[in-house]
Amino acid sequence: MKTAICPGSFDPVTNGHIDVIERASKLFDEVYVVAMTNYQKAGSMTFTEEERVDLLKKSTSHLGNVKVDTFSGLLADYATAHDIHIIVKGLRAVSDFENEFQQSIANKHINEDLETVFLPCSADNMYLSSSFVKQLGQLGGDISDFVPEAVCEDIIKRLRKE
Ligand code: PNS
Repeated sequence: MKTAICPGSFDPVTNGHIDVIERASKLFDEVYVVAMTNYQKAGSMTFTEEERVDLLKKSTSHLGNVKVDTFSGLLADYATAHDIHIIVKGLRAVSDFENEFQQSIANKHINEDLETVFLPCSADNMYLSSSFVKQLGQLGGDISDFVPEAVCEDIIKRLRKE
């Protein structure tokens, strides 16, 4: 059975994330979507771990082979603990590449059996990010084209509470 991890901070989940998760769920038998901490963004996370997991569960409920989890340590350690050898990451514009490449090298250094597979994002999601969604939502803009329908209201309510 081929199992992969789709890790991310998912703060919050966007249609870009769901696009990558749906495609990974067709390529692999089982996909673990893991809400983690990006230590470069640690002080600026908006949604709690519980909120991020809840939004992910609601927006992946149509995918039978997807499990949602959370972890606050090293991704490579999570993979080892679950006997997973494949990380799936979405790549947007060229600007993502350097950081993603560095992370894939770090993960392989920690666990040499760990491979990172990059899926190019779809053209519609090329410039979509969680920070863009947060800024738009907090300023009263319409985010419905950018986040999964199942969680759009939850995200709007949460952003307007800030
Ligand atoms: O959605 P993001 O913010 O690009 O996700 C990045 C994330 C959370 C996957 C990455 O920062 C991560 O793997 N964090 C856990 C700590 C870790 O293992 N870092 C990479 C090796 S130093």
